[in-house]
Amino acid sequence: HELALSLEEIEKGGYDHFMLKEIFEQPKAISDCLRGRINSEDGTITLGGIEDVMDKLVNAKRVVIAACGTSWHSGLVGEYLFEYLAKVPVEVEYASEFRYKEPLIGEGDVMIAISQSGETADTLAALREAKARGALVLGVVNVVGSTIARETDAGVYIHAGPEIGVASTKAFTAQVTVLTMMAIKLGLEKGTITKTRATELITELSRIPAKIEEVLEDTTEIQRISNLFSYAPNFLYLGRSYSFPVALEGALKLKEISYIHAEGYPAAEMKHGPIALIDEMMPVVVIAATHHTNDKMISNIEEVRARKGRIIAISTSENTEVADLAEFTTIIPETMDVFSPLVSVIPLQLLSYYIAVNRGCNVDQPRNLAKSVTVE
Ligand code: AGP
Repeated sequence: HELALSLEEIEKGGYDHFMLKEIFEQPKAISDCLRGRINSEDGTITLGGIEDVMDKLVNAKRVVIAACGTSWHSGLVGEYLFEYLAKVPVEVEYASEFRYKEPLIGEGDVMIAISQSGETADTLAALREAKARGALVLGVVNVVGSTIARETDAGVYIHAGPEIGVASTKAFTAQVTVLTMMAIKLGLEKGTITKTRATELITELSRIPAKIEEVLEDTTEIQRISNLFSYAPNFLYLGRSYSFPVALEGALKLKEISYIHAEGYPAAEMKHGPIALIDEMMPVVVIAATHHTNDKMISNIEEVRARKGRIIAISTSENTEVADLAEFTTIIPETMDVFSPLVSVIPLQLLSYYIAVNRGCNVDQPRNLAKSVTVE
């Protein structure tokens, strides 16, 4: 028993929990994911696992993404990326819902099944359904040789390394990285983005690990915020555009490991109901990380402020307007809107981690949860 414990300590590499280790591993996980695949000099992306099926992807009428939980959130980021960069219609389905609804999918369609473990029962069932109906099925998977990796026609491994913490962190950012590369590559091949644009995008993508490193270098502000709000009974997370899936992911992380009720919303949906919840007791995390929605986000922040909500903003140093309005601001480095989820999710992972630790929760193995859900 003692030996087992010390082995676990070794595996944790000096961190108190696997989750914290995995949060801090993200710069490396993303670098590993990008390695040998992007070339910022000639603006090309090589994804060995899908080169043979690229023509089918280029000609796809639509793309259906199927996943569960955090992987579903990365799929939502993928929807924005594919539609914006490659101009292909995308639907993101909860794998469990997809399979029970007589899905309209067939030849000419492409399904992307996203799964860290590669063993999630519903995701596996969804891909089998899509395959049986004639769609090309691609996998975005972490665990090499897993069932989903084996049963898909082709795919791209995320190469994040083993993820032990039940709350997914580095798998999310690595999944988003793979979807980003796929979207840029598809955009290039379809001609929806130019070579020059692709080169700019790839160059910025290669800087993302260093930008995440910057967020991880100083976590004092996020720890201070965590200490203040550890005993809040509810949290609201708001984001627009690429930050909307990040809001969902931030809320899921908090629920899973801190057992605090949290909801993520597209910021404008707040007016359609959740605004009734806002008072001086309600922490509202606003992810103000995308430039093209900034003015609208500022109006939403003002709406929360007017109702005395406690605003915790995730924003960049250039965005002084947000910092002036928010009660607390965690600064993240500037990047292009398309890459913002990779950076803005980091403080949210840390927020949930520090709150869970303060509450004495079992961070790596939260109650009622399993690392991979192999039952339907
Ligand atoms: C993430 O923090 C969760 N533990 C959970 O939602 C997970 O993402 C989901 O079960 C999907 O797992 P998969 O990626 O292994 O398919």
